[in-house]
Amino acid sequence: SFEVVFQRSGKSCIVAPGQTIVAAAAHIGISFSTSCEQGFCGTCITDVVEGECDHRDGYLTKKEQAAGKQMMPCISRCKSKKLVLDA
Ligand code: FES
Repeated sequence: SFEVVFQRSGKSCIVAPGQTIVAAAAHIGISFSTSCEQGFCGTCITDVVEGECDHRDGYLTKKEQAAGKQMMPCISRCKSKKLVLDA
């Protein structure tokens, strides 16, 4: 599991193994725009403030994934203990 901090609201939550960031966020009243929920459409794209993403989408290029500035919270996760998102 890892912690996600939502910078705009100042809220945070723990994302359990097998749970998505989108699902964990919904429990604390933060909703993302989503469509495919499988990492392909790009609807949920979110800016990363801090933390190392574990990209699992098929939307960002390898280069964009490596840059780590954006991520898809419907499917991607975090390699570090804490991820800070601009959401
Ligand atoms: Fe489609 Fe996240 S909802 S990429």
